[in-house]
Amino acid sequence: METFHLAKSVPKPHPQSPPAATFPRRALTAWFRRAARVLPWRCTRDPYAILVSEIMLQQTQVATVIPFYERWLARFPDFSSLAAAEENDVLSLWQGLGYYSRARNLHRAAKTVVSTHGGAMPRDPAHIRALPGIGRYTAGAVASFAFDLPEPLVDANVARVLARLLDLHTPIDSTAGQAALWAEAISLAPKRGARIFNSALMELGALICTPRAPRCGECPIRKSCAASANGTAESLPRKKPRRTRAELAEHCAWTMHHRRILLEQQTGKRWRGLWKLPALPAAPHTTPLLTLEYPFTHHRVTLSVFAQRAPSPLHENLAWHALATLADLPLTAPHRRAIEKLCSCRQQEAG
Ligand code: ADE
Repeated sequence: METFHLAKSVPKPHPQSPPAATFPRRALTAWFRRAARVLPWRCTRDPYAILVSEIMLQQTQVATVIPFYERWLARFPDFSSLAAAEENDVLSLWQGLGYYSRARNLHRAAKTVVSTHGGAMPRDPAHIRALPGIGRYTAGAVASFAFDLPEPLVDANVARVLARLLDLHTPIDSTAGQAALWAEAISLAPKRGARIFNSALMELGALICTPRAPRCGECPIRKSCAASANGTAESLPRKKPRRTRAELAEHCAWTMHHRRILLEQQTGKRWRGLWKLPALPAAPHTTPLLTLEYPFTHHRVTLSVFAQRAPSPLHENLAWHALATLADLPLTAPHRRAIEKLCSCRQQEAG
């Protein structure tokens, strides 16, 4: 009995990933040249364009990003044009991508590049990293994609590839997991050709080493993959258990007059400058016109919208906006959704 127990508790030896010197880089890059998607930011070495793409891709899918990326570069083709823009125009063009802090940081980064680096992206990864909104991943992406410097990068796709390569059972969102992944990325990053190598690791994660049903049979680095050897690929990567989301209630006013809507401009940190439906201190004793839910950091917010008269006088952050102008107005994503739903219901009622 005891022997059995002991035998069971001894961890199964995981085959080590091969030393970086024997990692099949050539097989990986040959696969990339054959199979990679043609994406607009892969056809340029312009560090500005690459930075724009990476910031947009942080929380948004490739297919959604492409038209935004092209529109952005047509309007703001370089750091100096972006640095000179009004914040409102920057936020308007970001409209539809959400997470506006990314647009604000990109704007601030452009101003810093102009004021401190003469309008050109610095080559030193430490200087890239010091720009507003640029973390370790984005700095690695810009340094390797634009300058072909041997800098590592770990995003969600690369984390999955490396966790499987190493058969890493430590949660990838833990400090220890991140340290193991970055250490592996550092040891794998080649002295020459990091641009193709890093792109290939990311593309492998996007196309072959997918979260569910990875196509191990088509994988160019399968022979080096410890998870493939141990049959654990599908169960990796591991993540820390999720915290449950606390519930929050948000109450807002719906005030219309001659196809104009009363909106409130945010002053707080997260959504500063964006417009939304005006907040109400509490739920009125009437049925809401609409309720919808959205996630906010670790919360689940239930937004309820109530018909209201305009307050008199108007609070200084309140203003009337013609419905026809809302497409160009930077609105928070959940409030845009609420307004669109209510407008379409009302049109149907009227028609
Ligand atoms: N996601 C983040 N960066 C990317 C890139 N350069 N190509 C494809 N997907 C990405």
